[in-house]
Amino acid sequence: MKKILFLVPSILILFHLNAQSDLQKAETLLKTMTLEEKVGQMTQVTFAVIAKDGWGNQDGNIDPAALKKAVVDYHVGSILNTTAHGFSVDTWQQIITQIQDETKNTRLKIPVVYGLDGIHGQTYTLNSTLFPQSIALAATRNVNLAKTAAKITANELRASGVRWNFAPVLDIGRQPLWSRFPETYGEDVYLGKTMGAAVIKAYEGDGLRNPTAVASCMKHYLGYSAPRSGKDRTPTYMPEIEMREYYLPQFREAVNAGSSTIMINSGEINGEPVHASKYLLTDVLRNELGFEGVIVSDWEDIKRIHDRHFVAATPREAVVMAVNAGIDMSMVPGDFSFYDLLIEAVKLGEVPISRIDDAVQRILVLKYKLGLFDNPYPEPAAEGNFGKPDYQTFALDAAHEAMTLLKNQNNVLPLSRSARVLVAGPSAQSISALNGCWSYTWQGKEEQWYPADSKTIFQAITDKLGAAHVATTTGKGFDNAMNYDVANLTAAATGVNAIILCLGEDAYAESPGNTRDLALPDNQIALANAAVATGKPVILILTEGRPRFITNIEPSMHAILMAYWSGKKTAEAVADVLFGDYNPDGRLPFTYSRSMGEIVLYDRKPTEEIREVFNDNINSGYDPLYPFGHGLSYTTFEYSNLQLSSTTLSGNAKLTVGITVKNSGNRDGKHAVELYTRDLYASVTPCMMRLRAFQKISLKTGESKTVTFTLDKDDLAFVNAQLKTVTEPGEFEVMIGNQKKTFIYQ
Ligand code: BGC
Repeated sequence: MKKILFLVPSILILFHLNAQSDLQKAETLLKTMTLEEKVGQMTQVTFAVIAKDGWGNQDGNIDPAALKKAVVDYHVGSILNTTAHGFSVDTWQQIITQIQDETKNTRLKIPVVYGLDGIHGQTYTLNSTLFPQSIALAATRNVNLAKTAAKITANELRASGVRWNFAPVLDIGRQPLWSRFPETYGEDVYLGKTMGAAVIKAYEGDGLRNPTAVASCMKHYLGYSAPRSGKDRTPTYMPEIEMREYYLPQFREAVNAGSSTIMINSGEINGEPVHASKYLLTDVLRNELGFEGVIVSDWEDIKRIHDRHFVAATPREAVVMAVNAGIDMSMVPGDFSFYDLLIEAVKLGEVPISRIDDAVQRILVLKYKLGLFDNPYPEPAAEGNFGKPDYQTFALDAAHEAMTLLKNQNNVLPLSRSARVLVAGPSAQSISALNGCWSYTWQGKEEQWYPADSKTIFQAITDKLGAAHVATTTGKGFDNAMNYDVANLTAAATGVNAIILCLGEDAYAESPGNTRDLALPDNQIALANAAVATGKPVILILTEGRPRFITNIEPSMHAILMAYWSGKKTAEAVADVLFGDYNPDGRLPFTYSRSMGEIVLYDRKPTEEIREVFNDNINSGYDPLYPFGHGLSYTTFEYSNLQLSSTTLSGNAKLTVGITVKNSGNRDGKHAVELYTRDLYASVTPCMMRLRAFQKISLKTGESKTVTFTLDKDDLAFVNAQLKTVTEPGEFEVMIGNQKKTFIYQ
């Protein structure tokens, strides 16, 4: 009886706790916390801080004393990253278990939230499934593929015991020099915000307590992709009208899609480090966009307000600026300096306790939402979701749809299966040049960590044609000296029907990917020239994360296939396209410019279009090698019968746009139909065209389909001189393929 009487109140308390929202639970817990415990929650350290052998750690072993120091003495709320390379699922589970075990030795037993960068698949778990980079996913114009890739990434992270993913990258790719261009969805706002929001829903949509979900992290807010020099983490100068037109919408859409966290731009805008910008973090992100989740700094960026940007005279002043601006958690990450300095600052009255409480409450809410208070350990239900066989099929589907055929002179492709080919060039026998950054290591360069069944382009072609039909002058690895031997290439071309020349970029990430020149290096150009000199058809395969200029060699290439860094199945997808087992349907998510002096993007302003030559105005301002949206197929698609539901669009009404698309060639194929609009006159110079909608369809040979889109006034809006997003009355043009119609918005 006594026991029963005792049980009743505890059941009631339990019931009460369960009935509370995550916010209420966080509020209750917050009230019991000391300043030290609170500031600890705001502190994020890197794995090296708790690892045996520190930064040199290779096997994932933890140093118990270092772990205790971080978790018990400093109360850290979050840990991230790995040291050298990815670990097995088992090792990750062991790491997470050991960390959460240690939290049980703290007064309040608050679980740690672990975060990793699953950028194009779960980067840091060995044998995870790597998908095309975002730039290549954007080329698919297939939102469902991007969602599937994100779902699988979430599964493989959660199976590893990790519930926070530092993705997606929502920076827009309008500066091709920038080394993180491959992590973007390209140059268009609509494409970027559509893909980004879809991916966030895929990460989080099941509900974060579910073992198939992870918290997403929108990054890197704001303007990170626009450094004037093109170099990573260098200054951006940007008028607010431009920021709001091109850089902010992706984040607004992502906040509305429900993303739980956000990471801040390491750079500075107009002379202000973004980490210290109260305007961007609090006024715009919190108050205007209504973001309620956790704001985390990027790597060491609070320290850098002092030691790189020099706007804070001391490290403590940097901490004060960042936290007062709105940062909730500091990716410190190599020590506990943030913890010490913030406590000091609070005690001196430099940071109000209300700001600390606000930050900690958000962090606690995230942990409740993630179910970490219920069970912080790796979940058996999640484990079975790692490495399912059909993930490989999805990776191949995504790589197939990314492949973008830029040129196919005289229909040289597809090649015959009985052809004899020479496979040449540095990416012919490289795995890293097919996957790029964030592939088992940060830089993605170390091939020993890739799954054993990863294929090179040379292998995939050999599998298809048989070894007797495939010659190569290359050796393993992108930098292998053999790959650049021009004389060898010339000699080996005798007797082959075509040369498959694999050029481009090896993997790189962040600042190590800075480049002085977007032109392909001379040693690659020399290979192209030698291949052309043999008189054989030359098929150029580009494995690259950003458009490297090929203007001088392009005219003499017979075909060009842009393969990007399309992940695990890049090689198979390339081979399938080359030999006609897949009909390519990718479309460029960026403008492929001719040279540095000709970087004009597709949504150009009218004056960028006009080139004045004495008395002639020539509309040749947008004359890239290949425009945004370019991509060939082995079949042909014809557009007809563009129909608008009305010639006027009033107020908040909707306009339906229909178009008939016919597969008029002799191959079945997929095709992304894109709708652009143009505002003819506006108070701010209008763009020549803006992508407003797209739909990917499949058409059998001879088949026609009517595709319909719905537009409303928000789809036509722009940012005016008062920085308001508006749609002004007037005439608009709708453009789909070669069809155009106008309507009036009133
Ligand atoms: C990158 C972030 C990343 C973080 C943690 C930084 O260098 O800029 O994108 O999430 O490292 O790995």
